[in-house]
Amino acid sequence: MSDHKKPDQDYETTGHEWDGIREYNKPLPKWWLMVFYATIIWGVGYTIAYPAWPGVKSATAGVLGWSTRADVAAEIEAQETTLAPINDRLASVELTAIAGDPELSNYAINAGGAVFRTFCAQCHGSGAAGAKGYPNLLDDDWLWGGTMEDIHTTISHGIRNEQDDEARYSEMPAFGRDGLLEPEQIDQVVNYVMTLSGETPADAELVQAGAAVFADNCAACHAEDGTGDRSQGAPNLTDAIWLYGGDFGTIRETVVNARFGVMPPMGGARLSEAEIRAVATYVHGLGGGEADAAE
Ligand code: HEC
Ligand code: HEC
Repeated sequence: MSDHKKPDQDYETTGHEWDGIREYNKPLPKWWLMVFYATIIWGVGYTIAYPAWPGVKSATAGVLGWSTRADVAAEIEAQETTLAPINDRLASVELTAIAGDPELSNYAINAGGAVFRTFCAQCHGSGAAGAKGYPNLLDDDWLWGGTMEDIHTTISHGIRNEQDDEARYSEMPAFGRDGLLEPEQIDQVVNYVMTLSGETPADAELVQAGAAVFADNCAACHAEDGTGDRSQGAPNLTDAIWLYGGDFGTIRETVVNARFGVMPPMGGARLSEAEIRAVATYVHGLGGGEADAAE
């Protein structure tokens, strides 16, 4: 018989007994209790030192004055101090010099990507491929121009907005709504516009008359050959790249009611000069960037 069990009598009991069942008296180990009390004292101390007890509006502040907010603010400040020299350099060099400075352009592309995801992706798409009414920034088709200078101006001041007096501005007339063209003239010119980019017109018989309507009413902005005019953001109609759409119905809608794409200005309070230049470098580098005329 194994004797690893001591006989009951050797244990101290509390003296309680129910139906022959007795209660042992086995106190917790000393070391365990010490640790337990230490954690209580530490816990109370912690709630005094750090923000802890919830109140109606806010929690107790804690005597050390620590807060997650202050912590983040300090980290951001440290980060900004570290980056200040390169940001200053980015904001002050010639725009065209950024590409030739590997350290600066690497930094600008990385920082610009982050700016893009925060401030531009909601309209231009996270991959910058755009959407109806929001231009694709990956291709080399530019409404307003694709040099660093052009892109920088577009981003700083925006397009057709009311907040910035220097915003890029132009307005296509609403030929149908304002009665500038008869409905049949509109059908004619829409069919003609379809042929400009090699599409099959909805009604080939109207194309020739449409060419005359185009020359009289559209060429001033979209150029005689339909290739557009960047000085007024008038799209190239010959390249089969559509901002709004190239099917009969969509072009007709554009001619009847016109379009008025708005982009907010990013300069001023929104983005710093270094951030604008960073995101301009990023966009310029996406694939469709153009060299400056002077280069
Ligand atoms: C609220 C929506 C919106 C936001 C945000 C926005 N854009 Fe735009 N952006 C537009 C629209 C709309 C146009 C086209 C306007 C037009 O029809 O001419 C445009 C045009 C542009 C163009 C001109 C493209 C060309 O072909 O010439 C560039 C470059 C551009 N955006 C860059 C940016 C960058 C970089 C940001 C972020 C810093 C940004 N946009 C944020 C709406 C937006
Ligand atoms: C005063 C200048 C002006 C005139 C005149 C003008 N347009 Fe436009 N057109 C524009 C501008 C600017 C846009 C771009 C609007 C925007 O981005 O919101 C545009 C956009 C368009 C588009 C959209 C292209 C796309 O990619 O989706 C079509 C199509 C078009 N115009 C056709 C015409 C036709 C046809 C006429 C003549 C009946 C005409 N336009 C006359 C300035 C003009």
